[in-house]
Amino acid sequence: MVGDLVLSALLILLASLLALVLSHFLPLLLNPKAPKGSFGWPLIGETLRFLRPHASNTLGTFLEDHCTRYGRVFKSHLFCTPTVVSCDQELNHFILQNEERLFQCSYPRPIHGILGKSSMLVVLGEDHKRLRNLSLALVTSTKLKPSYLGDIEKIALHVVGAWRDRSIIRARRHGRRWQGHSFLVIVKQVLGLSPEEPVTARILEDFLAFMKGLISFPLYIPGTPYAKAVQWLFSCLLLLTHSQARERISTTVKGIIEERRSAESCKKGDFLDVLLSTDELSDEEKVSFVLDSLLGVNETTSLLISMVVYFLGQSAEDLDLVKREHDSIRSNKGKEECLTSEDYKKMEYTQQVINETLRCGNIVKFVHRKALKDVRYKEYLIPSGWKVLPVFSAVHLNPSLHGNAQQFQPCRWEMPSKLPNAVVPVANGPDHDSSHSKPAFLALILFIGQGTSKKFTPFGGGPRLCPGSELAKIEAAFFLHHLVLNYRWRINGDDIPMAYPYVEFQRGLPIEIEPVSPESS
Ligand code: HEM
Repeated sequence: MVGDLVLSALLILLASLLALVLSHFLPLLLNPKAPKGSFGWPLIGETLRFLRPHASNTLGTFLEDHCTRYGRVFKSHLFCTPTVVSCDQELNHFILQNEERLFQCSYPRPIHGILGKSSMLVVLGEDHKRLRNLSLALVTSTKLKPSYLGDIEKIALHVVGAWRDRSIIRARRHGRRWQGHSFLVIVKQVLGLSPEEPVTARILEDFLAFMKGLISFPLYIPGTPYAKAVQWLFSCLLLLTHSQARERISTTVKGIIEERRSAESCKKGDFLDVLLSTDELSDEEKVSFVLDSLLGVNETTSLLISMVVYFLGQSAEDLDLVKREHDSIRSNKGKEECLTSEDYKKMEYTQQVINETLRCGNIVKFVHRKALKDVRYKEYLIPSGWKVLPVFSAVHLNPSLHGNAQQFQPCRWEMPSKLPNAVVPVANGPDHDSSHSKPAFLALILFIGQGTSKKFTPFGGGPRLCPGSELAKIEAAFFLHHLVLNYRWRINGDDIPMAYPYVEFQRGLPIEIEPVSPESS
């Protein structure tokens, strides 16, 4: 009797295992025309190898091995799904441009739970369009507003001021300080709340808990070098606090919305007024919109700032050029005078440094999509329902697209108008034949379009191109202004930005700093 039971249990186990193995490998048999590649182990596929941490200015061994073995487009099994990975600039561009027609944004389920079902990164179709239009309106109304620029500059002065009387600092920690402050700026821009109001402190506290949960997400994958059992348990707990924090922020923001509605006359002229005046969004969507704005601003921008500090800390020559540019801007202004949008436009070399930082640093390594139907692209077939991952870092670090791709060379982004005969530079210009000389104005237009070009996509592309890209760049440029006017620095010891795949500095980026006078260079 017991023997029969054990036998049945064994048979069931065997059948389940067989079913698991079959369902894992069946898509391989059904889609012989999919790109070359391998599916790894049943269920986990090759996910653990794909997520293995590596320096963010390198491809990592997984992509290197697979591109060498199968080419720049290959199949794999990632995040429990059959996947096509694209390291090819043309295919990446095609995927991003065909959002909702052939491909669709498709982040893993746990991310939906974290961001909420109305988050812009999760919603699709018409819902996405409505939220996106609002987001673009927020950015357009914010980015060149003197009050916004003034607030950003105040943060820069505050963070740089905290470096006084110190010789070594952990730049990433100070970057996080920036994070806290820029959070206050966006809370002011979106919700009209000043930093002194108690409710702002409450939102900030909840938001930090929310962020911890979000950042701990990759720890969820057991077996990764950083997912020891304790960390795994810890991240489960964090995720719990995370969803509670999201609930609390949600309740607070709903309260603010209600309060503003009941006091109709009390319009503050901030973005919340715009948000409330639209009937197109439900309250849930409005709350989600606020969370998206806070989330977008926080992690990415402070990371960009830390990365700029990192790359310039290794290149005294570029640091000097940046300093000269900012000395010249400051020399035409009073010591205490605020930076303006005109000053920002003059920060040309700074823009080149920021672009090069984005190319080398790869803050967002890849994005998640899925194929809505069978897609034939050149010699590849991408089967319907498969996950598709356009990997931006692989294009940014491709030496045939960016000469000396491993090196930090801001001069590669030089404006074409400055080049002799306005020839569009080989590695710089967007997707066109660089061997042709073009009239200066055309070259300039093409250059301006480089933010969305095929070989440089730090902010994604197509209908989901990051709406906050310009805000992030302005913040980094203003910070750099006050930093280079006051300090010179270099990296203390080894620390590199690691892709986990979210990017972080292992040692918090310790740097040695030395005060300088505005004129010295
Ligand atoms: C260095 C800084 C930043 C980087 C590298 C970055 C990168 C990206 C990328 C690659 C995407 C595309 C995601 C996809 O296609 O699936 C994206 C989307 C998005 N970003 Fe950013 N971002 C940055 C800063 C910001 C800021 C400051 C904001 C907020 C104001 C923001 C808000 C958003 C939002 C709301 C989306 C979703 C857009 C959509 O789905 O239509 N980001 N970002």
